[in-house]
Amino acid sequence: MEALRLFILFLLLSSITIIVGAFRADDMIDEDEDLSNFDDFLTPDFGGSKPLIRLSGRSLAQQKLPGNYTCDVYPRVCRLKGSAGPDCCYKKCVNVKTDSLNCFMCGHKCNNGEICCNGKCRNILSDKNNCGGCNNKCKSGEICCNGKCRSIVSDKNNCGGCNIKCKAGEFCCNGKCRSMVSDKNNCGGCNIKCKAGEICCNGKCRSMVSDKNNCGGCNIKCKPGEICCNGKCRSTSNDKNNCGGCNIKCKSGEICCNRKCKNKSNDTINCGGCNIKCKFGENCCNGKCKNTLYDKNNCGGCNIKCKPADRCDYGFCGYA
Ligand SMILES: *[C@@H]1O[C@H](CO)[C@@H](O)[C@H](O)[C@H]1NC(C)=O
Ligand SMILES: *[C@@H]1O[C@H](CO)[C@@H](O)[C@H](O)[C@H]1NC(C)=O
Ligand SMILES: *[C@@H]1O[C@H](CO)[C@@H](O)[C@H](O)[C@H]1NC(C)=O
Repeated sequence: MEALRLFILFLLLSSITIIVGAFRADDMIDEDEDLSNFDDFLTPDFGGSKPLIRLSGRSLAQQKLPGNYTCDVYPRVCRLKGSAGPDCCYKKCVNVKTDSLNCFMCGHKCNNGEICCNGKCRNILSDKNNCGGCNNKCKSGEICCNGKCRSIVSDKNNCGGCNIKCKAGEFCCNGKCRSMVSDKNNCGGCNIKCKAGEICCNGKCRSMVSDKNNCGGCNIKCKPGEICCNGKCRSTSNDKNNCGGCNIKCKSGEICCNRKCKNKSNDTINCGGCNIKCKFGENCCNGKCKNTLYDKNNCGGCNIKCKPADRCDYGFCGYA
């Protein structure tokens, strides 16, 4: 009698162990567990002593399990090769790390536009740690624009923020759209600064005070023979303030002839004006060509006047 009671007690204890074991079975399954014995995997976890189904070979993954062998009753089904995931939600094998309908836990749905990345709902169009896909991290300085990592400091289609497009001809410098043709701080490229006095013309730094193709402003071209002096087109061949070069000034009374300052009042080849040449034997007196041999107002030299009654002969005043 005593032996029988002990035996019943033993049976009771061992069935409790089996039930407790069943609850823990799922946790104890190693994911890398050898799958050679499918019978074990398909043992229902309420402690049944015999496997309920048998499958031939190792190809369970390729076979479709009958609908009633669901993971709520047979959790180990989810651990098999080819299973949609190791976790069981609503009788279906899922992976709560990646399933957007069961993200992190059964029934937790991700919002529209989100997917489940590592058990967290993420918007892969805008999340820079999961840009375009889970775990696709953007580099530092980049943000996620429509699922693509973009540098908002330099991408002209996402300049300063997603979908901020620079206009044609502009590019993105430090997150701002800049005209590369005319911005003197970004001339021809980001952070290419023109020097003081320069302007940006067609993407190149130009001195508007001295560049004869951009004289006083972009694309203001000087005529042939002119140069750019202080932002103005000048002909250095006859400009008395820029005679032969910028800022070469002739003295007062001088004129600029063929790039040189000339005294027009006594210069016989520029007498009274550039290129006015006196004849052989003539002098230039006060800007006029005079024959000092016979001119009684310039007799023997400029400004040597004979008396009114006298005449000039071979450079000498004499009685007429
Ligand atoms: C599973 O379903 C099949 C067909 O409906 C049935 O024959 C079988 O008894 C069911 N098994 C269990 C364990 O319910
Ligand atoms: C030009 O020549 C005249 C006549 O010799 C002279 O009086 C004048 O000072 C000269 N001017 C200059 C700028 O040298
Ligand atoms: C003109 O006069 C100035 C001042 O007298 C003199 O220095 C210069 O040599 C003269 N030039 C000519 C071409 O005679």
